[in-house]
Amino acid sequence: MSEYDEGVPGTIQIAPSILAADFGHLGDEVRAAEAAGADLIHVDVMDGHFVPNISLGPVVVEGLRPVTKLELDVHLMIDSPWDYLEAFARAGADSITVHVEACPDPADTIGQIHKLGKRAGIVMSPPTSVDAVEPFVELVERVLVMSVHPGFGGQSFLPEVLSKTDALSRWRKERSLSFDIQIDGGIKEANSREVVEKGVETLVAGSAIFGGDDYGQRISAMRAAAESGLAARDERAV
Ligand code: DX5
Ligand code: ZN
Repeated sequence: MSEYDEGVPGTIQIAPSILAADFGHLGDEVRAAEAAGADLIHVDVMDGHFVPNISLGPVVVEGLRPVTKLELDVHLMIDSPWDYLEAFARAGADSITVHVEACPDPADTIGQIHKLGKRAGIVMSPPTSVDAVEPFVELVERVLVMSVHPGFGGQSFLPEVLSKTDALSRWRKERSLSFDIQIDGGIKEANSREVVEKGVETLVAGSAIFGGDDYGQRISAMRAAAESGLAARDERAV
């Protein structure tokens, strides 16, 4: 376990993605998500180059920092992410996840995130093989599996990515590692059990949480489904 680890694999975490929140009232939305039982706040950063959409930058993270005590989990969908690590770290990010496709030297970029005192994650888009992140799983606190093509919220879950969570879960066990396996895109109550059975602990959900009125009910329902998947996973391991 690295010095940056907080949890242990096996604890379900629900991470509302603010991309689906009301940007006119972002502070209130984050406060509401925290009050509704969110475990971390997922912040999607898009640059219009790495993905065909533009979202937000460090000033928004800075604005949200005093609003919540929860982990601000920054997912960088940008080219040259190393150029912006310091700005996001200063703004108050707790963890920073970079795309393996955007990094010619992922180990170096992960090292820079650690030097800034932040937890580091590596993420792959749906077309990228899980083997692309394999050399880095020992360096990170989180591996994120994209279950939609990055760039937009509200897309349908791509079930074929679940073979990746299987492999990650196996490597984690075989090598006695403790990185968190996170999934992002099209996650809702109906598929939460299945993804957790395949090794995931942290579920990112945008539209499934912010798309309704009662965030507490939506987070609880997702957590209950996820925990039933965890129980099934543990039973199989016995
Ligand atoms: C997609 C983002 C996701 C997105 C998830 O590029 O990384 O975090 O907000 O949104 P939903 O849950 O609506 O698929
Ligand atoms: Zn994301």
